Amino acid sequence: MAALVLFYSYSGKTRSIAQELAAKESAGIAEIEDVRRPGKLKAYIGGILAVIRGKAWPMRPLEVDWTAYDHVILLTPVWADNPPPVVLSALKQFPEGKTVAVKMVSMSGNSDCKERIETIIKSRGSILEGIENIKV
Ligand SMILES: Cc1cc2nc3c(=O)[nH]c(=O)nc-3n(C[C@H](O)[C@H](O)[C@H](O)COP(=O)(O)O)c2cc1C
Repeated sequence: MAALVLFYSYSGKTRSIAQELAAKESAGIAEIEDVRRPGKLKAYIGGILAVIRGKAWPMRPLEVDWTAYDHVILLTPVWADNPPPVVLSALKQFPEGKTVAVKMVSMSGNSDCKERIETIIKSRGSILEGIENIKV
C-alpha cells in the first residue's frame, strides 16, 4: 500500500519526525503550509481561538497526486488539544477512499480531538485508522 506522510509544522519538531518516518517507510511526503505563516502572537491567541471555534485558516495548494496513495499518515502539532487551524483546512480537502492514521505531536503527549477529526475524515469518505499521541 503506497503511503503519503502529510505534515504541518510551526516550529520544526513535527517536520523532523515526518521526514524520518517518510524515509523509514519509503513513503511520499508533503507539507501543509499556511498562506501566511502566523507570528507567535497570532499563533497563540488567534490560533487557539480558531481551533476552539473549529475555524480553518487558509492553506497553500497541496502539490499531491492523491491517486498515487492509498494511505495517509498525517502528522500535526497539537494546539489547544486540537490540530492547528491550517490543518483543519487540509482535513477538509481530504480525498475519498483513503485510510488515514493521525499522529498528534505535543509537549504534553495529550490531545482531545479524536471525535472532531474522525467526523471530518468520515465526511470526506475516508477511514480513520487511529490517532496516536507523540510527546516531544
Ligand atoms: C499556539 C500553540 C498552542 C499549543 N498548544 C499546546 C497544547 O494544548 N498542548 C501541548 O501539549 N502542546 C501545545 N503546544 C506545543 C506544541 O504542540 C509542540 O511544541 C509541538 O511539538 C510543536 O510542533 P512543531 O515544532 O512541529 O510546530 C502548542 C504550541 C503552539 C504554537
